Amino acid sequence: MNIQAITEGIFYVGVNDRTTQKFEAMWPLPAGVTYNSYIVKGSDKTALIDGVEVSEACKLKKNIKDIIGCDAPDYLIINHMEPDHSGSIGILRSFFPNMTIVGNAKTLEMVKGFYGIEDNVLKVADNDTLPLGDMTLSFHITPMVHWPETMMTYVKEKSVLFSGDAFGCFGALNGAVVDSEMDTASYFPEMYRYYSNIVGKYGVFVQKALAKLKGLDLAYICSTHGPVWHEQIADVVDIYDRLSRYEAESGVVIVYGSMYGNTEEMAEIIARRLAECGIKNIKMHNASFSHLSYILSDIFRYKGLIIGAPTYSNTLFPPIESLVQAIKTREIKNRVIASFGSYTWAPQSVKRINTVLEEAKFKTSDIRTVEMKQALSEPTEQSLRSLAETVADELMK
Ligand SMILES: Cc1cc2nc3c(=O)[nH]c(=O)nc-3n(C[C@H](O)[C@H](O)[C@H](O)COP(=O)(O)O)c2cc1C
Ligand SMILES: [Fe+2]
Ligand SMILES: [Fe+2]
Repeated sequence: MNIQAITEGIFYVGVNDRTTQKFEAMWPLPAGVTYNSYIVKGSDKTALIDGVEVSEACKLKKNIKDIIGCDAPDYLIINHMEPDHSGSIGILRSFFPNMTIVGNAKTLEMVKGFYGIEDNVLKVADNDTLPLGDMTLSFHITPMVHWPETMMTYVKEKSVLFSGDAFGCFGALNGAVVDSEMDTASYFPEMYRYYSNIVGKYGVFVQKALAKLKGLDLAYICSTHGPVWHEQIADVVDIYDRLSRYEAESGVVIVYGSMYGNTEEMAEIIARRLAECGIKNIKMHNASFSHLSYILSDIFRYKGLIIGAPTYSNTLFPPIESLVQAIKTREIKNRVIASFGSYTWAPQSVKRINTVLEEAKFKTSDIRTVEMKQALSEPTEQSLRSLAETVADELMK
């Protein structure tokens, strides 16, 4: 059994990366990441679909050779120009000088800009096709999933979609490639984290892409990161559909910053009251210790969002400033929202949290707030409990 064969004529030639610590220099990779690349071997021509990160180019070349022997691929199809896939283009060109680079107008402009390559390229437009003999590639431009040039490539004869980053997740592949040959449980949390951090801002465009794919028969989705989806296509499409509509599950995320424990005490009171009100799924993050990527992943997932912080040098405690800015960038919406904070002499934190949330298009009147001076008092405790009750009521509606 060739574990790299996805279906007849279509092969996996991607690589595992278990050494890069942070994807895009920001997002931790506790289980590694893959840069997926595929060979479509038609009866006349062979296409390589997407490249890999620059330092993995030699591994990719070896994988290609294992599949197609000494021949060179006729085409390199570029679905996405982020350097985790395109970084190897210059090296691939020197390995395979006669291989034609295929991309849309925006892609080829970037190929020229990044790698200085202008010759032996083929420009394709939306719905164009490229025959390989017994298989035909078609190209479907899906802008801003998650770059302007992103497109997907489809093989009608095999119902295989090469989707670029869409439907991708973090996590290296541990032997098997296709979902039906592995336990995929560990990849799903990493799909939430991948989506919310990398693609999250572009929900509208993901929706447009999903609408465009509606008519396609899908037997395999081959994304550029993580497993090839076959048996679990419906689940994966459903996750991308829900996340891109900012649709959330029942549950509350409480994120707080705290230096000396006062704000943390407020968070604990809110959490306890939420639990007493019957909220079962409560995720708590101390923003100084949970990595932002995991916090955002939970925020994309759950309906309630409660943010708290101390005032720090007349402004917002910095880890929470980063968090609220990240929420604003990702245009998160449709959440039941509240804020809380503490100060000693001149309050700023709650005001600042609410200001950024308002910039993020949450309505001021929808943000429930509690502010505490110095230590906890009975009235503050009561206000925090009633904030939790209001959030719980909203969520139970
Ligand atoms: C470095 C530092 C700067 C602070 N700056 C302010 C400030 O500008 N205004 C204010 O009212 N309190 C300020 N505080 C006080 C804290 O906001 C207040 O004690 C808060 O309750 C601390 O919350 P925590 O125990 O959750 O860390 C500052 C505290 C520290 C340690
Ligand atoms: Fe990307
Ligand atoms: Fe990628």
